[in-house]
Amino acid sequence: MAQLWGGRFTKEMDKLVYEFNASISFDKKFFEQDIEGSIAHVVMMEKQGILTCEEKDAIVKGLTGIRKDVEDGKLSITEEYEDIHSFVEANLIERIGDTGKKLHTGRSRNDQVALDMKLYIRSEVVQIAENLKDLLETLLSIMEKNLTTYMPGFTHLQKAQPTTLAHHMGAYFEMFKRDVLRLEDIYKRMNYCPLGSGAFAGTTYPLDRAYTSALMGFEGPTLNSMDAVADRDYVIEFLAALSTIMMHLSRFSEEIIIWNSNEYRFVEIDDGFSTGSSIMPQKKNPDIAELVRGKTGRVYGALMSILTTMKSLPLAYNKDMQEDKELTFDAITTVKNCLTLFHGMLSTMKFNQKIMEESATKGFTNATDAADYLVNKGVPFRDAHGIIGQLVLYCIEKNCSIDALSIDELKNFSPLFEGDVYDTISLKTCVEKRLTMGAPSKKAMEEVIRINKEFLAHIWVVERY
Ligand code: ARG
Repeated sequence: MAQLWGGRFTKEMDKLVYEFNASISFDKKFFEQDIEGSIAHVVMMEKQGILTCEEKDAIVKGLTGIRKDVEDGKLSITEEYEDIHSFVEANLIERIGDTGKKLHTGRSRNDQVALDMKLYIRSEVVQIAENLKDLLETLLSIMEKNLTTYMPGFTHLQKAQPTTLAHHMGAYFEMFKRDVLRLEDIYKRMNYCPLGSGAFAGTTYPLDRAYTSALMGFEGPTLNSMDAVADRDYVIEFLAALSTIMMHLSRFSEEIIIWNSNEYRFVEIDDGFSTGSSIMPQKKNPDIAELVRGKTGRVYGALMSILTTMKSLPLAYNKDMQEDKELTFDAITTVKNCLTLFHGMLSTMKFNQKIMEESATKGFTNATDAADYLVNKGVPFRDAHGIIGQLVLYCIEKNCSIDALSIDELKNFSPLFEGDVYDTISLKTCVEKRLTMGAPSKKAMEEVIRINKEFLAHIWVVERY
């Protein structure tokens, strides 16, 4: 049991109590961030005359030595320490002697852990945005190849109006684009450095907080030392953004599962991303899509957990906040794995264009356009809606589509029908006449693709480097 305190205690700590309190088993993930923050802290302290140049050099050398030894596997982070901060400090003192004891001058574990968590999440925000960027690129290339791949669009999971595969994929493009923008927002809002806030009331040492912040790429120091150690809003916002990503992936997975079913056969998931059944030899199951859908709950759980942990905490730091870590780490791993696997599944998936198009010609997806045909001839929309409703009923009985009826049959429903109706309600016309911004016609989609290519070329994760 190695901890940073003990002076005022008269009893040895019970083993169970110690283990319950310790966080090294999970905060060891912060190892690099902890060293980075400590180096920035001592460099600043030397500039401010709190440490001598020799002391600073000895501490930095000690810290970089510890980092290298851990990286090379010569030193392992064992659970005999209470947390990662204790591990680093104890090892430093062991290496460089009493000078190491000066590392924690003007600092508390409260501002230290707030810094470590921020540095960690900040880098994950960037990595996840990069994963999203890969997915966006694949979506855009599927869109470009399928501008005239006609398919039915659905509402209430019933065929509604015809659209294109490019248009359908474009909907997901917009969702994941918002996810990237959300991460960018979070990055900007959270990018203020809590180090130098001490336990909660700052410190009497002449720290230059702006300097430390700049050393670690922050926009500036946080402006209230009490808030700085008590704030986990950025964890909540981040987990909310991850939950939204998972919600989008889950909806997409659900559609892929439906489209991959024997009834639809709109897509075929590659063998590499499918699994078999132990009993039914004919089966090829969409397990990856199902798992992505299923893992969404885990990530929502992390968000609920941190919201609940924070909801009644008095200011400033409370140990409850140690609970922010394990679930956040689990959510990060889950989202990254899901994004990688989903991307792999999507980029190898086969789209059955012919089956999609055939399906679009059935199910009266052109009924709205047939009604619009009559409206253009002067029939009020509500009446046209009624006429086409009766027409659809007639077709259901005859088991045929509207355009399979003869002109005489059509005229029985309205004398306004002429020969040009067939072209007006053809699949192609139905789609290509929808020219409004954001609609599925090739022309409208080409403009959207142009705008989204621009977006990808200047995407925030790219511009940062
Ligand atoms: N393990 C703690 C956490 O994760 C670090 C901060 C501890 N601070 C304290 N005063 N005990 O939140």
